[in-house]
Amino acid sequence: MTDTSHDRLLIIDFGSQVTQLIARRLRELNVYCEIHPYQKVTDAFLTEFAPKAVIFSGGPDSVMREGSPRPPQSVYTLGVPILGICYGQQVMMHDLGGRVEAGEHATAEFGRAYITPTEDRCELLNGWFMDGSGREQVWMSHGDHVAEIAPGFSVYGTSPGAPFAITGDVKRQFYAAQFHPEVHHTPNGKTVYENFVRAAGFTGDWTMAAYREDAIRLIREQVGDRKVICGLSGGVDSSVAAVLIHEAIGDQLTCVFVDHGLLRMNEADEVVTMFRDNYNIPLIHADEAELFLGELDGVSDPETKRKIIGRLFIDVFQKYAGEIEGAEFLAQGTLYPDVIESVSFSGGPSVTIKSHHNVGGLPEKMGLKLVEPLRELFKDEVRALGRELGLPDSFIGRHPFPGPGLAIRCPGEITREKLEILRKADAVYIDQIRKHGLYDEIWQAFVAILPVRTVGVMGDGRTYDFACALRAVNSVDGMTADYYPFTHDFLGETATRIINEVRGINRVTYDITSKPPGTIEWE
Ligand code: XMP
Repeated sequence: MTDTSHDRLLIIDFGSQVTQLIARRLRELNVYCEIHPYQKVTDAFLTEFAPKAVIFSGGPDSVMREGSPRPPQSVYTLGVPILGICYGQQVMMHDLGGRVEAGEHATAEFGRAYITPTEDRCELLNGWFMDGSGREQVWMSHGDHVAEIAPGFSVYGTSPGAPFAITGDVKRQFYAAQFHPEVHHTPNGKTVYENFVRAAGFTGDWTMAAYREDAIRLIREQVGDRKVICGLSGGVDSSVAAVLIHEAIGDQLTCVFVDHGLLRMNEADEVVTMFRDNYNIPLIHADEAELFLGELDGVSDPETKRKIIGRLFIDVFQKYAGEIEGAEFLAQGTLYPDVIESVSFSGGPSVTIKSHHNVGGLPEKMGLKLVEPLRELFKDEVRALGRELGLPDSFIGRHPFPGPGLAIRCPGEITREKLEILRKADAVYIDQIRKHGLYDEIWQAFVAILPVRTVGVMGDGRTYDFACALRAVNSVDGMTADYYPFTHDFLGETATRIINEVRGINRVTYDITSKPPGTIEWE
């Protein structure tokens, strides 16, 4: 669903670890951009994409290596501004007649560095060097360096290891930076992108209100008068997708909410009430707890649990979706990070840590076409769109919840008794977090019930009940995470409340493992 009504910026990816951050910074400036791997960017691609400006990302290769990544040379004659970052800078200098040298100890720079301005000023650095220190902190990560700049370029900033830290050919609006303005450790880096896109003539027309209108128009064009089904999990992505599609095509959309009996306290009711009663969206509530819990009975291996849940989910979804006559489309809340084809230099398959639960393969099996109205958005943009659509903040700000639900928070065999205890403990824990005003500060928090009973004493009696673990992490994308540093007072108060209010738990622990080496969920 690539939209052509906005000014578009093209990011050519040469394999940097932080290319996505360039896109984030630009989106924050209300500029529409797409990341594409350099292998895909041909002359024809450039013509079709018609960018208003281009950015070359960083990358791990060396321009001096034969066969190293390059953009098509026609990019330099498009007549649009270009910004090269790190490896992208070296590519630009190399292609335009400058010279790059292999890194030596004296010139390689990794980490924090400071740029000082030259006498010449250029608009790319407007707003820099203003705090009186006469320098700006930046983040460098380069081995090779530019030894001679290309004809037409001037130097606008230097660092001890990079005499050409920032250069530009103002006439052509080609700029090249050795550092990474997109990362957090270049505190004023966003200003560089802002100056670049303003100079390129972007008006900042990429707003959520505009996106909503465009998306609705495109959904109507794609679907016509046919029918769409949408698997609703209660998570933010599928909820926003459902509300948006409903706004576009009304009752042609039916949502299927599969309740596998592994949801949190009151979760099924909340989702059903919200969509059926508040939004009037046709919703099938597939209560299949018996089926899932029956098949999971006696199973304790984590991967087996995940596979059973994944298989049943598809079966159930297919069964209900099959009842909706004439459905031709399946709506999914796929996000932009799932779509970007990043350049991989490592090659080879990565190890499967956990089989993630999704409905992959379902559209082909059922002969359905996909409607994916969030394909161009990052997670926080989905939240902004949700707000734009009037979804309540309490819903939009919810912590992520995994497809296999409480099954993976119940290590060992799953029993109804354990699930009930877990639901109650989790509700108390989340209530505590909310009461202390911490919910929005934490990325994800939950309780896991442990497959172990321990001895305790309550009143004058002996108890022999389950132990549980509290988990709370901060993360950006779930790929890495750190445990949340609660105060001891908070932990003590929460432990007391759980033990007093939840029958079946007599010991509470706090999980302080980061990811890696742990994972966020227990299974
Ligand atoms: P892990 O446990 O792999 O979790 O560190 C990372 C993030 O992903 C969520 N998660 C899942 N989400 N289906 C999902 O939709 C799954 O099968 C699944 N497994 C884990 C987890 O809650 C965390 O946010």
